[in-house]
Formats: sequence, structure tokens, C-alpha cells
Amino acid sequence: MTLPLRSVLEKSLLSGALFCVLSVFSLAGCAEVERAYPPERPVEPPVGMNHRSWGAAIFREMGCAGCHNVGGVDEAGGTMLGLVGKTRRLEGGGEVVADREYITRSILDPSAEVVLGRPNVMPSYRGRLGPQELEALVDFIVSLR
Ligand code: HEC
Repeated sequence: MTLPLRSVLEKSLLSGALFCVLSVFSLAGCAEVERAYPPERPVEPPVGMNHRSWGAAIFREMGCAGCHNVGGVDEAGGTMLGLVGKTRRLEGGGEVVADREYITRSILDPSAEVVLGRPNVMPSYRGRLGPQELEALVDFIVSLR
């Protein structure tokens, strides 16, 4: 009778230990330096989606639509419609023409260039999107003309 009880105890101790080891690992994961491109992100659109609809889906899923409109309404973060080619005046002086690189920088490092008159509240998406996702997202924004 004592033997099964012992093995049950041993098993639960073992899984407890395993749990601790895993938690330590995940905590260490949190402390890791942020990478621009997490390797575990998808590299192609989900089945049934093309490149553009993938970009649109990422725009919704990442919460961009909470602050940015794609139809021309000037919300909290401004509209994405017709952004490419526009000259943006920046907080602290200076101007930049919105191109692919500017849009990419705006997503990865939003506080680096803050649009004049807008609050510096956009979160950085560095470390949250894979390179292919970022490309699909930027292509989607560029396509909004
Ligand atoms: C909490 C609100 C918020 C969220 C969420 C947000 N943004 Fe922004 N975004 C802003 C604000 C405010 C600005 C203007 C200030 C600045 O330049 O940082 C901005 C600026 C931008 C710009 C430059 C716009 C311009 O007019 O020149 C781009 C491009 C952009 N965001 C894309 C995105 C994308 C793509 C996402 C999702 C991955 C996103 N934003 C999520 C608030 C937000």
C-alpha cells in the first residue's frame, strides 16, 4: 500500500519541480532583451488570406484600428488613408515625407518621430511582429490611397 502512495508523491514532487523550472525559464524570457523580430511569428498569411488581407487582419488584431482609421476619419492617431507621400511635420521641428521606411519606423519606434500636434502615446510594436507580418502591415497601409 505504501508503494503506490510513495510513487504518487514522487510524481507530484517531480511535476512541481518541473513547474518551477518552467516558470523560471518563462520569467527569464520576460527579462530578455527585446528583439525586433520574434522568430516564432508566422511567415506567411493564414490559409485563405492574401498578402493584403493579411496586412488588414494584422492591423485589426494588433489594435491599430483602435487609434487609426483607414477610411479618412482623423481619429486619435490620424487616418492611414493617403498617408504615403504626405509631408509630416514633427514635434521638436523637422519634416519627413511619409514613405515605407517612415511607416515602418513609426510602427517599431513611434516616439522617435512624433507627428506635430499628436500625443506621443503609440505603443512600440518592436518584438511583436515577424518581418513578413511587418511587411504585410506596411504594404496594407501603403495601399490605402
Ligand atoms: C494608443 C493609440 C495607438 C495605437 C494602438 C497605434 N497607434 Fe499609431 N499612432 C498613434 C498616435 C497618437 C500617432 C501620432 C504620434 C506619433 O507620431 O507617434 C501615431 C502615429 C502612427 C503613424 C504615423 C502617422 C502619421 O500621420 O504620420 C503610423 C504609420 C502608425 N501610427 C501606425 C500604426 C500601426 C500600424 C499600429 C498598429 C500596429 C498603430 N499605429 C497603433 C496612436 C496609436
